[in-house]
Amino acid sequence: MTANELRTKYLDFFKSKGHTIIPSASLVPREIDGSTLFTTAGMHPLVPYLLGEQHPGGNRVANVQKCVRTGDIDDVGDNRHLTFFEMMGNWSFGDYFKKEAIEWSYEFLTDPKWLGLDKNRLYVTVFKGENNIPRDEEAIATWQKVFSDAGMEVEVAGEDEMIKDNVRIIPLGTDDNFWIAGATGPCGGDTEMFYDMRPEEGKLEGKFGELVDSFRIMEVWNNVFMEFNKTAEGKYEKLAKPNVDTGMGVERTLTVLDGEYTVFETELFKPLFEKIAEISGSGYQDSDETKKAFRIIADHVRASVFMIADGVTPLNTGAGYVLRRLIRRAVRYGKLLGIEKDFTVSIAEIVIQNFGDFYPELKKQREVIFAELKKEEEKFQETLERGIKQYKLKAETGNFQVIGGEVAFDLYQTYGFPFELTKELAKEDGIDINEKEFEEELKKHQDLSRTASAGMFKGGLQDSGEETARLHTAAHLLLASLRQILGNHVFQKGSNITPERLRLDFSHAEKVMPEQLILIENLVNRAIEAKLDVLNEEMTLDQAKKLNAMGVFESKYGEKVTVYSIINDAGEVVSREICGGPHAKNTGELGHFKIQKEEASSSGVRRIKAVLT
Ligand code: ALA
Repeated sequence: MTANELRTKYLDFFKSKGHTIIPSASLVPREIDGSTLFTTAGMHPLVPYLLGEQHPGGNRVANVQKCVRTGDIDDVGDNRHLTFFEMMGNWSFGDYFKKEAIEWSYEFLTDPKWLGLDKNRLYVTVFKGENNIPRDEEAIATWQKVFSDAGMEVEVAGEDEMIKDNVRIIPLGTDDNFWIAGATGPCGGDTEMFYDMRPEEGKLEGKFGELVDSFRIMEVWNNVFMEFNKTAEGKYEKLAKPNVDTGMGVERTLTVLDGEYTVFETELFKPLFEKIAEISGSGYQDSDETKKAFRIIADHVRASVFMIADGVTPLNTGAGYVLRRLIRRAVRYGKLLGIEKDFTVSIAEIVIQNFGDFYPELKKQREVIFAELKKEEEKFQETLERGIKQYKLKAETGNFQVIGGEVAFDLYQTYGFPFELTKELAKEDGIDINEKEFEEELKKHQDLSRTASAGMFKGGLQDSGEETARLHTAAHLLLASLRQILGNHVFQKGSNITPERLRLDFSHAEKVMPEQLILIENLVNRAIEAKLDVLNEEMTLDQAKKLNAMGVFESKYGEKVTVYSIINDAGEVVSREICGGPHAKNTGELGHFKIQKEEASSSGVRRIKAVLT
């Protein structure tokens, strides 16, 4: 099935169920409330209607929404992360609810007239009840009926979340099956549909989460049942009229339909890969490196094309900065493939060819898209050439085991050399970068007072009281949790701890969404509840590096560093950092961890303030 057929089928199906088809909203949220730079889900532009405003299209609408999520931009290149994606969705504004939503989902997925997927390969999760919100018995009963009407025996998984025998319905908690778009507002449990990707491996059995992680099953659709309104006080009030909000990824659904292993094997990416191969003379399948480069280039150029069509231009702040990073990263990976000349425009041409029928704005903005890409690519080429020369010069003249922050900043400031690229280049050369110093320089530059800046990044603790020791340990758990939820691009950029609170600055380009903050908080509290020992050990810097310890590698030759490790009962490293301490002896001493505030610190750096209660 082609992407166009899929989109058309989806919209036709919901039209047949009384839905008004509405166009995709812009990728750039109309009301910039500072909470997000891009449209991240189909429901995002529809929030006013989910809150009760009358939609001009009535109480049932459906669409295909352009979305961008940049939280894990650095993970693009593996086999599943994308920045730009298309989300098909259907909405009920106080109209139909669980029964219809689930029945229609099942019908669309399995009826040969529609997607015709194999019902025997379908598994669903539902909300198991948590935080005083009851288990979703209605969703469970509806799924049971749907499956048994289809002649299938069906069982519900227990607390062990194991799929075995006839289990098809898996109840899970808040982390997996409760959806909220912000800190407050309409929210509710959801039901997610998963498809068995490799039935040839035999009967599907195992713990749900592990089957997801191993890509044996893949989520294709999420139906959120917005039954509550979460108030500022954290109360869940029952909504007068509940809504349905659904999201089905075009890329994933095509992967499933095509029987492919990853989204990159679908027709959405194939033509882009062919073009990249033609320009670079390399093949997608040549090596892990070429695969990664092809994926990054295709994803980033595709996202850039859509962003520019919606009015974003490369800048040093906000959405423009994300676009700049995407274009520059694509160009840089083009270089790694040996592409000498400008190439983003020729990839963009294929994007417009393939997506322009469904998204006419791409055709309309064609010239603007080409012009912006060309301009940015040229600018970056110059930057790269100057920067690489400068980098080499400095690498030769300096004692370059560690690039000092000043040098990195100079490359950034004088030569416009993105810090990420300095990092990537340095990594290739086996050189470390003093990120802390770089941030200090950046801060200074941003006219923060020297005193404030020095204090902010001192890191060390004057006050070694118990409170600060506990908060210091909490900061380690927070950093580890941030990396787990947001991705491995998150590094500590500064920290400041008083006896009352901790403050952590970290690299992340976008606001951390409230639902992510909840997950992060939960992870920290889980580590606290597990009462894990905080171990510390002296070792050489080399040993610390080998252990993948986080932290600033700033030590004189031969000097020992102290590495603090928190290891869970399964023997997995929860956190490992080079640090001067002091720390709590056991995470159990920490009490309860609470994030109080998340805000921007500087471009590409976010700040979290948190307390222990
Ligand atoms: N809003 C839900 C999601 O993004 C459907 O998954």
